[in-house]
Amino acid sequence: MTNTTKNYRRVNPDHIHDVRSNALGLGGLYSIEVELARLIGQWIARFPEFPEKLSLAEMVYEEAMHAQMLEDRLLELRTNEEDVAHLRARTAPVFKQLEQLDDPDKFLSGLFRVVKPAQQADLRLHLEACPPYVDTPTVRMLERILQEEDRHISTGLSLLAERGISWRETLDFETGLREGLWNLNDIGSSFLSGEFVGKEPISLPVPVWPAAVEYLSTDQQMPDWPVGHKEEMQRCVHELVFSELEALDIFGRYVYEFSGFPWKFYVEAARLCWDEARHVELLLNILDRYDGEIGQWPANAPGYEEMVRCPTVLDKIMMVNVIAEGEYSTDTQTQHREAFKQLGDDLSALLKDYEMADEIVHGRFGIKWARWLSDSTGEDFEVAYRAAKQSLDDFKAKYADESSNMASIVNIPLIRLGPEETESTRLVNVSAKRLVGFSEEQISEMTAEASEVIDEK
Ligand SMILES: [Fe+2]
Ligand SMILES: [Fe+2]
Repeated sequence: MTNTTKNYRRVNPDHIHDVRSNALGLGGLYSIEVELARLIGQWIARFPEFPEKLSLAEMVYEEAMHAQMLEDRLLELRTNEEDVAHLRARTAPVFKQLEQLDDPDKFLSGLFRVVKPAQQADLRLHLEACPPYVDTPTVRMLERILQEEDRHISTGLSLLAERGISWRETLDFETGLREGLWNLNDIGSSFLSGEFVGKEPISLPVPVWPAAVEYLSTDQQMPDWPVGHKEEMQRCVHELVFSELEALDIFGRYVYEFSGFPWKFYVEAARLCWDEARHVELLLNILDRYDGEIGQWPANAPGYEEMVRCPTVLDKIMMVNVIAEGEYSTDTQTQHREAFKQLGDDLSALLKDYEMADEIVHGRFGIKWARWLSDSTGEDFEVAYRAAKQSLDDFKAKYADESSNMASIVNIPLIRLGPEETESTRLVNVSAKRLVGFSEEQISEMTAEASEVIDEK
């Protein structure tokens, strides 16, 4: 037996990949990354607290990127597109188990104490068998993936430690999960074809939110607006934190529940999710600086609930990305930025300007994929756009009366997108609309009743 520790670093030519076996192994690693992205996408909205939501949002983006890198390399190694699509339509039992769990603590232990270490080992083994000179692209890619996976594991283990979930207490559960792990030495029998996480998405009518905050559904009335500048600012920023948080939860669901898109869609959706996580962080920072606290008021998630109600994927993307983000949010972000400048809060204004840049990308994402979807399903882009605008107007009309106390919000210079906002008080950032990709005709419709038009060069 030559395979001793001492010889561990010696390259054994018998164990070096040829193109075919390389692609086969990378295909296994690809299926794992794809399933991880979907799984984490699902769990983001199911974790109540900020540390997990924010950490998982970054991870979902990195997993989606890893899958994209692996996909690119697979195509270079002569795997065809159709076979790559099949690799996304298979799973290992461990992933389905983790999808169906009902306990976030168990999910954490399963992900970070079972699945990711097993994945880490397989990434390392594959790397060891990459031939010299010719396969450096795989080596560079796997080294980067390993580095990021290392970080995921240490983040996850520290989250478990912080929550006081001991190694011992999850032992039996983890043993059961290990039965469902894949085996890359026997790829044929380790994946179930035709099954994958999110194939039949488990619905989540409302997101799970921090224990400190009382969740109010959209038809429940929010408490009266407070009096006094400081309190108004705190309330406003508190609402902004949760409007970013609902967006974070929404984009995790995109990765989980929308099947059938090219992988690029999921990479971009996961990036949106991570963008929203950073927006949450920047707003938590602002809330801190205004001495506000999470849970000071209840919070609601009208955007999330509306997304769930939209009947088709095209309707959801149209409502959330094209209209709420591309059309409205580019304006509200501009308004917020200017308002913070007026208040002399330059740091918040600067942060908000970055958020504006992201919002343009989110709107562009919406138009791009809504077009792709209508081209591939035959649904009509314009009809869906009008329908989404109409239902947003209906939504505003329905809740405008019930929230008459919100009339006072206009007294402070930060206005959240919502029932209180009408065309006549609206500022329209025309340059942002052009960057999003709206036509001049659509833009002139948007500016027809605007009170202020901004055209930045
Ligand atoms: Fe955002
Ligand atoms: Fe956004």
